[in-house]
Amino acid sequence: MDIMSYYSAEVNKALADSVQGENRLHEAMRYALLSGGKRIRPVLMLAVLDAYGYPWKQYISVALSIEYIHTYSLIHDDLPAMDDDALRRGKPTTHIAFDEATAILAGDALLTDAFSLISEDTVLSAHEKVQLIQILATRAGSKGMVYGQVLDLHYEGASVTQAVLESIHHHKTAKLIEAPLMMASVIANERDIKVWESIGKTLGLAFQIQDDVLEVISDEKMMGKSLSDVRNEKSTYVRLLGIKEARLKVDEMFSKVKSLVRGLDVNVDVIDGIVESVKKRLN
Ligand code: IPE
Ligand code: IPE
Ligand code: MG
Ligand code: MG
Repeated sequence: MDIMSYYSAEVNKALADSVQGENRLHEAMRYALLSGGKRIRPVLMLAVLDAYGYPWKQYISVALSIEYIHTYSLIHDDLPAMDDDALRRGKPTTHIAFDEATAILAGDALLTDAFSLISEDTVLSAHEKVQLIQILATRAGSKGMVYGQVLDLHYEGASVTQAVLESIHHHKTAKLIEAPLMMASVIANERDIKVWESIGKTLGLAFQIQDDVLEVISDEKMMGKSLSDVRNEKSTYVRLLGIKEARLKVDEMFSKVKSLVRGLDVNVDVIDGIVESVKKRLN
C-alpha cells in the first residue's frame, strides 16, 4: 500500500460513517463526499501527527472536518454562479446530479457540520478544540479560502501581476493546506507551528500551480473534473508565465517544501513520502 492510501483508507472509512440520514440533503452530502477525492488535506494532518509519534487514528474526526470544508468549497466552486462546471471527482457535479438549491445547502451543511465534528470530539481538550476551530475558521473564511474565491472570480479575464496571482492562490488554495498542518501542530503542543504554516503556504501554491499545469497537459477523464480555466479566462501561472516557467515554479516550490521539512525534528520520511506523492500526482 502506498503511503497516501495508508492514511486515506482510514479517512474514507470514517467519512462513509460520518453522514447519517436518508433525506435528500444527506444523500447530496454523501454524493459529494464519498467520491474520488484524493483526501490530501486530512492525510496531511494525520501524517504530521504520525511523524511526531502521535496515535493518529484517534484524530480522524478532526481530519474529516477539513475534508468537509474542502468538499463544500468544491460544490460551491462548481455552481453556475462560480466556475459553472459539470464534472467533479469523476462524476456529475452535485448541482447537476441533484439541483442547485440542494447543492448550495449540502455545501452549507458540510461547512457547518465541520465545526460540529471538532466540537463533539471526545479525545481533545476544550482548549485544543477552540484552537483547532480558530485555525480552520480563519483559513476557510473571509480572510482565507472564501476571500480567495472572491479574488479568483474578480480577476477573470484580467491581466494580473505575479504578486496578485500569488495572493489569489494563497487564499483560495494554500490556506486550506496550511490548516491541516497547523492543526496537527496544535495537537502536538504547537510544535513548529510557524514552520508548518510556511510549509503549507508553499505546498499550497505548488499544488495550485501544478493543478493549472495539469489542466493544460491532461484531460477531463484523467482529472475527473471539468477543465474550464480557458473558458472562464482564469488568471493562472500558465497564462501569465507559460507552461515551462510554471513547471519550473512548481519544482522550485516542492524543493522548498522539502528543505523546510528537513529542518524539523520529525520523522521526515513520512512527510517526504506524502509530499512526493502529491508532486507526482496525475489528477
Ligand atoms: C481541487 O483540490 C481544488 C484545488 C485546490 C486545486 P483537490 O485536487 O485536492 O481535489 P480532490 O479533493 O482530490 O477532488
Ligand atoms: C480551487 O479552485 C479552489 C477552491 C475550490 C476553493 P479551482 O476552481 O481553481 O479548482 P478546480 O479546477 O475547479 O478544481
Ligand atoms: Mg474556481
Ligand atoms: Mg473550479
